[in-house]
Amino acid sequence: MKANELRNKYIEFFKKKNHTEINTSSLIPENDPSVLFTTAGMHPLVPYLLGERHPAGKRLTDVQKCLRTGDIDEVGDTSHLTFFEMLGNWSLGDYFKDESVRMSFEFLTEELGIPKEKLSVTCFEGDEKVPKDEETAKIWESLGIPKERIYFYGIGENWWGPAGETGPCGPDTEIFYDTGKEKCSEHCGPSCNCGKYLEIWNNVFMGYNKDNEGNYTELQQKNVDTGLGLERVLAIMNGKTSVYDTELFDGIIKKIEEVSDKKYDETTAREFRIIADHMRAATFVLGDDKAVTPSNVDQGYVLRRLIRRTSRQLRKLGVEGSKMGEISETIIDQYQDVYPELSRNRDFILSELEKEEQTFNKTLDKGLKAAEKIFEIIKDEPTLSGGLAFKLYDTFGFPIELTQELAAEKGKNVDVEEFNKKFKEHQEKSRQGAAQKFKGGLADHSEETTKLHTATHLLNAALRRVLGDSVFQKGSNINPERLRFDFSFDRKMTPEELNEVTKLVNEAIRAKLPVTTEEMTVEEAKKIGAIGVFDDKYDKKVKVYSIGDFSKEICGGPHVTNTSELGEFEILKEQSSSAGVRRIKARLNKVQETNKDNKENGKNERKVVSKTLDDEER
Ligand code: SER
Repeated sequence: MKANELRNKYIEFFKKKNHTEINTSSLIPENDPSVLFTTAGMHPLVPYLLGERHPAGKRLTDVQKCLRTGDIDEVGDTSHLTFFEMLGNWSLGDYFKDESVRMSFEFLTEELGIPKEKLSVTCFEGDEKVPKDEETAKIWESLGIPKERIYFYGIGENWWGPAGETGPCGPDTEIFYDTGKEKCSEHCGPSCNCGKYLEIWNNVFMGYNKDNEGNYTELQQKNVDTGLGLERVLAIMNGKTSVYDTELFDGIIKKIEEVSDKKYDETTAREFRIIADHMRAATFVLGDDKAVTPSNVDQGYVLRRLIRRTSRQLRKLGVEGSKMGEISETIIDQYQDVYPELSRNRDFILSELEKEEQTFNKTLDKGLKAAEKIFEIIKDEPTLSGGLAFKLYDTFGFPIELTQELAAEKGKNVDVEEFNKKFKEHQEKSRQGAAQKFKGGLADHSEETTKLHTATHLLNAALRRVLGDSVFQKGSNINPERLRFDFSFDRKMTPEELNEVTKLVNEAIRAKLPVTTEEMTVEEAKKIGAIGVFDDKYDKKVKVYSIGDFSKEICGGPHVTNTSELGEFEILKEQSSSAGVRRIKARLNKVQETNKDNKENGKNERKVVSKTLDDEER
């Protein structure tokens, strides 16, 4: 079975079950400060899972491109991937457990023809707040899954979400495929990592919301969120034991063989897989219309890591010079029919890859020089300390294997144990850093971010008035303290232009404009001059938010109801983001309406009473 056949089968099946197909969303979450990447099909749907009406209805399905970096260090084995495609279907307060489980079962056993004997399932065992999910277990039994293959696990295994600190979540039922391996022990079950059980589908019964205080409250709307891993199912359907042996990787692996002049076999599998996975992920990040470039922060940092790790693996295979472009081109060619943004952004992808590859090659050369110096200093000692090995890793990105190779050339050992200790401490710190990113929750819909979201629409409209209609939003990131807005424009803005934009936004705020929303077709939205992403993200019916006559934009919300709630708009910074893309950081300052009589103009005086941001760089 080919990937496209599987994508189509899935979507057609759920369409037959009255689902509406929605388009894949950007890999970079829109207006969401709390996550770097879209890690599941449900991310773009958070507002709707929490109760907003989705223009496409209550039953949705799609294929969502996802990126997860939590297991980046595991990539190289047979199943871990950073980038993957998730087939998903959702019920927004429509069907619940029974229909969801039955549809999944029907799809797997009838559409795909997987024998039910190969399936095992898990259900939530319950805790003090949420009861054991006997209901779902009974549904499985009625479908012919015997009790012995229905397992119950706790919150660690059978509870999904929220994706960040807060948001929709709930107990789930997971479906596993038996790979046919022997059980590794008498306790072996789906939660075991020995490779006998491969998780393929997760059906989450999202009936809860976790808030900032860690409380779970029942949602009025009972949702279902499911995700089926395209690559894994494709491997099963083709009798493969590794996702890297599927059609999706054939061309990429061949290309790596060609550029490295090495064969893909047991001795090189790890390097090949890391290169293939990371290049696929980097190509999709760069290929996103949000124009992320390698950097030391946020998405740019992850992108940089993906590229640099690839670079090292290529060197290990003996590749010299810049070859990433060639590999990436194979990926673009392979995926462009399904993801046309890749061909749209082809030049950008290739030039950014080349730049980063060259920069890193220089860092690597510097690192090699630094390593030489270190070996000179310790020339009389038999062992390179873990601390120094870690310094080489941290400063120059040297993997421990490279340091060991260099040490061996000098007849020395490396204290790998100490290195691992330092490495773990570092990982723990990064994890905490990543957890911080989630502060405020996934799709933080606090009052402050909602206000800033509305301010972003005003800013977008004001920019187009001052700089012209060639200005388009390229990206947006909001946290409770500031908004960040990326837009297409190819030079620095003048102070006059910045003043003019600020003035327009503040006038719109003072005019107390109502914020209203309407649903209409994309065609109608175009006709009334709404701006926004027309062809990439929304099917058929869309929501258009209007702010008086000042702005009309396609958007999922949420927004304030009147601009008078916003306060005083202030631009903090205007800078370059990448070629042809500028970035504005701005905030809203609180204002007090002082009612003292102003005899001359009879208007209330607005006074800025507090700044909300201490550190402008935030
Ligand atoms: N959100 C769930 C997951 O990521 C189901 O799609 O597993």
